[in-house]
Amino acid sequence: MTKKIFVTREIPQLGIKMLEEKGYEVRVNESDSIPTKGDLISLLKDKSYDAVLTLLTDPIDAEVYDASPSVKLYANYATGYDNIDVALARERGITVTNAPSIESAEAVAEHTIALMLALSARIVEADEFVRHGKYKGWSPMNFIGMDIFGKTLGLIGAGRIGERVAHYAKGLGMKIIYYDVTRNERIENERGAIYYNNIEDVLRQSDIVSLHVPLLPSTKHLMDDNKFKLMKRASFIINTSRGPVISEESLLKTLNEKTISGAALDVFEFEPQINPELLKLQNIILTPHIASASIEARDAMAKTVALNIIDFFEGRIPKNIVNS
Ligand code: GLV
Repeated sequence: MTKKIFVTREIPQLGIKMLEEKGYEVRVNESDSIPTKGDLISLLKDKSYDAVLTLLTDPIDAEVYDASPSVKLYANYATGYDNIDVALARERGITVTNAPSIESAEAVAEHTIALMLALSARIVEADEFVRHGKYKGWSPMNFIGMDIFGKTLGLIGAGRIGERVAHYAKGLGMKIIYYDVTRNERIENERGAIYYNNIEDVLRQSDIVSLHVPLLPSTKHLMDDNKFKLMKRASFIINTSRGPVISEESLLKTLNEKTISGAALDVFEFEPQINPELLKLQNIILTPHIASASIEARDAMAKTVALNIIDFFEGRIPKNIVNS
C-alpha cells in the first residue's frame, strides 16, 4: 500500500521531493496560515494518513491523535518538539521524531552572535536614529555601547547550539561559563568553558546570558523575577530557545526598572503574540523566530525530516526518535 503523508505547511521542496521519489503520496497543506488544532483535526480526520510532517506551530495532542488513528509517525520539522504530546504518543505506540542538524545549530548560533553584537553595539537603535533623520553629526557621547572582548558569556544549556555559540564567543575573546544538567567536556576542552553546577552563579557572573535549553516543565519560566535579580546591571540576555523559558512579565519589569541593560528575543512566551509593552522599549531587540532561517539550515531540516520518515517506512529506526 502506498504510504500517505500529510505536510501541515510548505517546507523546502528538497524534503518533499525525497518523499515523492520513494513513491509516497504526499499532500502539502496549501494554506499559508498557521493551522489551529481545529484546522489540523479537520485536515487529518478520515484521511487515513500514515505519517504527518508537522511544524513547531502545530499543537499535536490527544484530540489530534484521536482524529487520525491511522497516523503512526509525527515527524516534526524542528529541533524542539514541545508542540507535541510525546508522552502520550509513547503510550499509544505512535513514533515522534525531531529534525536537529549541524546546519540549524550553526544558524541559531550565528543568529545568537548577531543579536549579541547588535545589543552591545546598539545597532538597531542607531539604525532607527539615522532613519528618523536624527543624525546631525558625530558626537563623542552618541550611542555608547559595550565591547564584547574580555566579557563573560554565560550559557544556560551547552548542547549542540551552545557549543557553536561558545566557538564564536571564544573567537571574540570572551570568557565562557556555562550551566547544563549534564556537564559537556567538549565545550570545556575545546572552548575553555567553565562549568557551574547551578544557574544562579552563571547569572551573577555573566555580562551576557544566552539561553539554549529545550522547553520542558523544568525550564518553563526558568528566568523569573528571582533569576533576573541575580544578573548584573550592565548585562544582557538573549533568548533563541523557546519563549516560555523566560517569564515575559518578569522580563518586562526587569527592563523597565533597568536592572539589566537589555535583551534580544527571537522567541516569545505567547508566540506569535508579543506583549505590546515590550514593543515600546528601547533596550530590546526582537526578531520573529528566525534563528534557524538560513538556507543551509532549512534544507538540512527538510532532508532530516524526510530521512526520518523514509527510515520509518522502510523498517529502520529513524535517527531522531524522541519518544523511544
Ligand atoms: C526552531 O525553533 C527549531 O526548534 O528548530
